[in-house]
Amino acid sequence: MSTHDQRFFDVFILVIGSLVAIAVILIFIARSVGAATQTLWVREYPVYGQGVSERLKPAGSAALPGAAGPEETPVAAAVAAKAAPVAAPLSGPQVFNQACNACHGAGIGGAPKNGDKAAWAARIAQGDATLYKHALEGFQGATGFMPAKGGWANLSDGEITAAVDYMVSQSR
Ligand code: HEC
Repeated sequence: MSTHDQRFFDVFILVIGSLVAIAVILIFIARSVGAATQTLWVREYPVYGQGVSERLKPAGSAALPGAAGPEETPVAAAVAAKAAPVAAPLSGPQVFNQACNACHGAGIGGAPKNGDKAAWAARIAQGDATLYKHALEGFQGATGFMPAKGGWANLSDGEITAAVDYMVSQSR
């Protein structure tokens, strides 16, 4: 190889080498600029956001009558429409006759008798909140054991408190 060729190769290798070095530097600059901008733009891109919420969505939803949300699905709406109508709540006296009279009618097992003002005075003095709590959650007192909801777990809290109100009104 002549010295002329050797010089050409030296210069050629130098030029190629610096081009490769510049390319590598540009790759790193592009990556660091992209991390700060491109990644953020992708996250803010509406279609990307929709995809994420779509994937995070709960598998199903239930719509309660009267509480239908804006995102109610047709399936949930159909189920809600077919749901059996909720029976009207029982009144205080109805609940009392069905669920409480067994003990509170005659004063069985230490239950304060309905209408017995003396037996109820101290209990009423505790306040409605305590009476409701004891009727709903059950209560072991000095005279006996009052089961939660009188043992009628199918009755709603409102029906139980209505029965308490009724007994209190009869026993004041
Ligand atoms: C199995 C019998 C039984 C039935 C049924 C029952 N109770 Fe009672 N209840 C008791 C007894 C016993 C007590 C008295 C507990 C004590 O003070 O020692 C009591 C006490 C209460 C008190 C007074 C609580 C207090 O803080 O003094 C309320 C209010 C009450 N019952 C509500 C109800 C209502 C409402 C129903 C019907 C839904 C009901 N009970 C059904 C046995 C019963």
